[in-house]
Amino acid sequence: MNDQQDKSGPAGISVQAESQAPPASGVPFGRPGNNTRVLLIASGKGGVGKSSITANLAVALAHRGKDVAVVDADVWGFSIPRMLGISEPPTVIDDMLIPPEAHGVRCISMGFFADEDQPVVWRGPMLHKALEQFLTDVSWGEPDYLLVDLPPGTGDISISLAGFLPTAEMLVVTTPQAVAQKVAQRAAYMAAKMNITVTGVIENMSWFMGDDGTRYELFGAGGGQALATQLEVPLVGQVPLLPVLRVGADTGNPVAVDQASEAGVVFATMARVVDEDLRPTKRSHPELNLVD
Ligand SMILES: Nc1ncnc2c1ncn2[C@@H]1O[C@H](COP(=O)(O)OP(=O)(O)OP(=O)(O)O)[C@@H](O)[C@H]1O
Ligand SMILES: [Mg+2]
Repeated sequence: MNDQQDKSGPAGISVQAESQAPPASGVPFGRPGNNTRVLLIASGKGGVGKSSITANLAVALAHRGKDVAVVDADVWGFSIPRMLGISEPPTVIDDMLIPPEAHGVRCISMGFFADEDQPVVWRGPMLHKALEQFLTDVSWGEPDYLLVDLPPGTGDISISLAGFLPTAEMLVVTTPQAVAQKVAQRAAYMAAKMNITVTGVIENMSWFMGDDGTRYELFGAGGGQALATQLEVPLVGQVPLLPVLRVGADTGNPVAVDQASEAGVVFATMARVVDEDLRPTKRSHPELNLVD
């Protein structure tokens, strides 16, 4: 793809030329009165399971009766449509995209607009515009949850999203080893810089349970709790290494769908913690001081 071809965004909606400053955001999430809870799923490095956790946590929240939307913000390495088993693209009605749905979760992804074999080579400002379109030109309504699967690291996309989604909370995913925990910390530093609250830490690949019932801690132990302690946030959950999780991700059958399975219980518990224990307290309105 060359620069000339770069000028169309998702759904063929024309994209701002690179030299122009991004326009003021018309993103509905985060506007006063909007009640959608926005969760950014982040990590400092790749391959720790952000997308798997996004897809399964979304399904588990939907099982709780929540209206759940997912934005796959990993525009280069999109994986959410495959993980949720969605192959049909969004439909277009009156210039708005109607997102496809699976397992009670609606989602939008660059995967619907790009060929899986072709790399997405857009530069920062183009991506900024594409993400804005994911948030504004999609007929989301006002879901209870908007989960955003971030790309690895702390680059342009995360910064754009933080600007679009000022009320977002961040869940930081890490693996148990100390080195990964240090890397994950970077995502938290970025959140602090962007004025985004870190709500909790999720540890993935925590152990592998052998047939003999022994827990093998293949990637060490304690990293998630250590990071949570350091950030002064709760450890929301620990996800074991489960071959069925990978198979489910590859075949579009998220393990959280089977609520009675080992993985299903893990994600259902995590969804409950997020939905109940970590529900943000109402923002204070100084003008509404209670008189006692
Ligand atoms: N708990 C787990 N048990 C087994 N396999 C897992 C687990 N978590 C993730 N995987 C597998 O590890 C691989 C990487 O996971 P995933 O794509 O979710 O990570 P990611 O952090 O989103 O990666 P990227 O940074 O490339 O976006 C996938 O093949 C996934 O199926
Ligand atoms: Mg991913």
